Amino acid sequence: AAPVEINLEGLEPGQQINVDWRGQPVWVLRRTPEMLQRLDALTDSDELRDPHAEVKAQQPSYISGAQRAVKDEYLVVVALCTHLGCVPLFRPEPGSISADWPGGYFCPCHASMFDFAGRVFRGVPASTNLVIPPHRYLSESRIEIG
Ligand code: FES
Repeated sequence: AAPVEINLEGLEPGQQINVDWRGQPVWVLRRTPEMLQRLDALTDSDELRDPHAEVKAQQPSYISGAQRAVKDEYLVVVALCTHLGCVPLFRPEPGSISADWPGGYFCPCHASMFDFAGRVFRGVPASTNLVIPPHRYLSESRIEIG
């Protein structure tokens, strides 16, 4: 399948776009400084199953660490829950799912939760982080997926 090119111009901090890659939905989220700070706080908590993205199958080898990104500002992630493949909901507002919800992605099927790096909370019922697809920057404002 052909790679997909994405133009990041016009994507505001806090916004995400949806693209189709090989028949799969992929999100590109432009993370705000606040979102990145919340990721740091979660990395140091005991909420995450794989906080440093060490499960190799979930991202390409050149993606490592808590932010799970080539550039911290942009998360590129396959929008399919790693439990049974539902499309999670983008719920960026803290407190919008539960009082202690830090913002992220909530799966409506069986309530798996993922943060702004696609890292799974508590490993229930999904046990792995969302998948990061292979991607690279063609320029400051263009990404190629695939
Ligand atoms: Fe997402 Fe089951 S498919 S929690």
